[in-house]
Amino acid sequence: MKMETRVFPDIDALSRGALEELLRVMQDAIRQRGRFVIALSGGHTPAKLYALWAHAETPWDRVHLFWGDERYVQQDDPLSNYRMTRETLIKHVAIPAGNVHVVPTDLPTPEKAAEAYDAELRAFFGAEAPAFDLQLLGLGVEGHTASLFPGSPALEEKQRWVMAIEAPAKPARRLTFTPAVLDQGRNTFFLVAGADKREILAALRAEPDSKVSQYPAARIRPVGGTLWFLDQAAGS
Ligand code: 6PG
Repeated sequence: MKMETRVFPDIDALSRGALEELLRVMQDAIRQRGRFVIALSGGHTPAKLYALWAHAETPWDRVHLFWGDERYVQQDDPLSNYRMTRETLIKHVAIPAGNVHVVPTDLPTPEKAAEAYDAELRAFFGAEAPAFDLQLLGLGVEGHTASLFPGSPALEEKQRWVMAIEAPAKPARRLTFTPAVLDQGRNTFFLVAGADKREILAALRAEPDSKVSQYPAARIRPVGGTLWFLDQAAGS
């Protein structure tokens, strides 16, 4: 698998670097397939990238936003990944509402919501593989990515594209894409910043065989490879 790492002085430079590549991937996707389909990540790290993207020239009617994972909380909850994206990006741009594929978090159970989002993905991709033009991913200190945590049965899932899981983190109830989707990605950017990520990055680099790695982030092997954006604090 192709894998590249770039290290930036700080989160601002990292975000500018990631935006530049995002726009390049977007232009290629639109030229080749007429649309740009992106799976967004949550957490704190991508907020600056989203805020910068809000001011970059973008044909928003060609862009489709999905989320690779979501916390099972109301859309206005401060922990909602959708809310973070809405505040930094969505409310500032003219994207058609039908292009914003929000993870439902108001169904009777997270399992029902996972089924609904799985069905939405299948309807969107039709007979094609769920190959996102770009998937953004983060890295947790114990090696999780999206909401795939170490030891989770979701890591072995071959059929379902979206699953409800109980995370050993707050909030526990979450929905996540499975590797059945994430391994198809045409482009995958990992955004990792902060000194608290240094140890896990070193552990990932030392992994002899990523296919059996205990760290979910190492087990995602997207078709198009991975590009890692690190800040100096994480990557030094
Ligand atoms: C989530 C995520 C998660 C995140 C990492 C890193 O919803 O929690 O998508 O996988 O990317 O936990 O989070 P930070 O960027 O906040 O460090």
